[in-house]
Amino acid sequence: MKNTAMPYLIIFAFGIVAIFFMSFIGLNNMDEIAAEKEGGGDKAEEQVAASPEDTYKQSCIACHGDQYQGAVGPALTGTGDRHSKEELVDILTNGTANGMPGGLVAGQEDAMAEWLMTLK
Ligand code: HEC
Repeated sequence: MKNTAMPYLIIFAFGIVAIFFMSFIGLNNMDEIAAEKEGGGDKAEEQVAASPEDTYKQSCIACHGDQYQGAVGPALTGTGDRHSKEELVDILTNGTANGMPGGLVAGQEDAMAEWLMTLK
């Protein structure tokens, strides 16, 4: 009796262990999926918060005008005709001697330069 029951008990024990194991894998995956979702959310937020247009409204509008028409600073319409992207990145990073402050768009110079070139 003991000898015939033993293999079943072992299989039974393995089964329990397997169920535990699988549920832990499941929990792990759940965490990963949750983390991915959170990561994705952050990304979307960053993109929204860091859109060049929003940055413009925050940091540039006072000197360049709400229609890019210029105020203290020159008009920014047609900027892409006057400057290459590299020049714009340089202006945004270092500013100019004549009153354009540098460093206003830290980390966003590339996107900002590309966006500036689209202003007509
Ligand atoms: C304190 C006022 C001020 C602020 C704020 C400011 N600018 Fe300027 N900006 C200027 C002035 C003044 C010039 C002209 C500088 C020169 O001719 O050397 C200028 C020049 C520029 C130019 C070059 C234009 C051209 O045709 O040569 C660009 C591009 C520019 N600004 C973009 C921006 C952006 C983008 C922001 C916001 C991140 C910004 N500026 C914020 C004052 C400002």
